[in-house]
Amino acid sequence: GDCENHATLLCSLLLGFGLDAYVCVGTKAKGTPHTWVLTRGTDGSITFWESLTAHRYVHRAIDPDAPPLAPQPKPTSPYRTVGCVFNHHTFRANCQPSDAVELCVFDFQNQSRWKAMSQEALKSVCAPGSTTSLPPLPPLCAPSLDPAAASNQLELELRSLVSEHRKDLDLATLWDDQLSYLLSSALSAYELERCSGVSCGNEEFQDAVRRAVPDGHTFKGFPIHFLHRNARRAFATCLRSPFCEEIVCCRGDHVRLAVRVRVFAYPESACAVWLMFAVKYRSVL
Ligand SMILES: *[C@@H]1O[C@H](CO)[C@@H](O)[C@H](O)[C@H]1NC(C)=O
Repeated sequence: GDCENHATLLCSLLLGFGLDAYVCVGTKAKGTPHTWVLTRGTDGSITFWESLTAHRYVHRAIDPDAPPLAPQPKPTSPYRTVGCVFNHHTFRANCQPSDAVELCVFDFQNQSRWKAMSQEALKSVCAPGSTTSLPPLPPLCAPSLDPAAASNQLELELRSLVSEHRKDLDLATLWDDQLSYLLSSALSAYELERCSGVSCGNEEFQDAVRRAVPDGHTFKGFPIHFLHRNARRAFATCLRSPFCEEIVCCRGDHVRLAVRVRVFAYPESACAVWLMFAVKYRSVL
């Protein structure tokens, strides 16, 4: 969707979290129409939320009546004008002398700044009951996928694809099960980071790998993320990375390959698939 859809969805989400949230309809640079979200803190602070980028901006209005030399807050947001705001309860038109965002005061109770659409008018556009009763919980189904079985299955398929690929290059393939196992913790950390945005340093994984790779050996690992479980497609995508190709087609002394797959199942059987190819071999000095 575009910014209108995203802003409405984000606003609904924030309202659902119990915040005082509104969709703002206005413009950004060059007068381009734009829609974003605003929340009002209990302390009166105003925060803008850009639904397309997840950026947040704290709004501080410029006081037009301040003495000329008084320091004024610098606009931080990309928004230029705001014409109206709405949520599931109200629709308010901006009737301040200027609709410039940097001059706007968002005190919605003040009728001389924000003209509210009448309750009757609101009722005539919102179906009765739609704004008063909570919507039914969305009927999300629990995943029917067994993540452990799906991980093992995909891992076996990838192992045989790698062996075949190496056979075509006249290379034998020796797997290191212990090394494969060690890759699991990294894959869990990647998924956690992907979901939460919080990076959970991977020191333990790096330490485990260091312990598993003898002196004079080199380790290379290639992690990648998919939203499907098709081994052939995944393998083809991986091989397009020169770094992964180097791992899969590694030749040399004491070459041991590893592959690990972790499938994470989510409602509606959506899945996130992390896989990692790795190799260790004796470095040629
Ligand atoms: C409402 O806004 C007007 C300016 O439009 C201002 O003069 C007045 O003080 C405001 N009222 C309150 C209660 O803040």
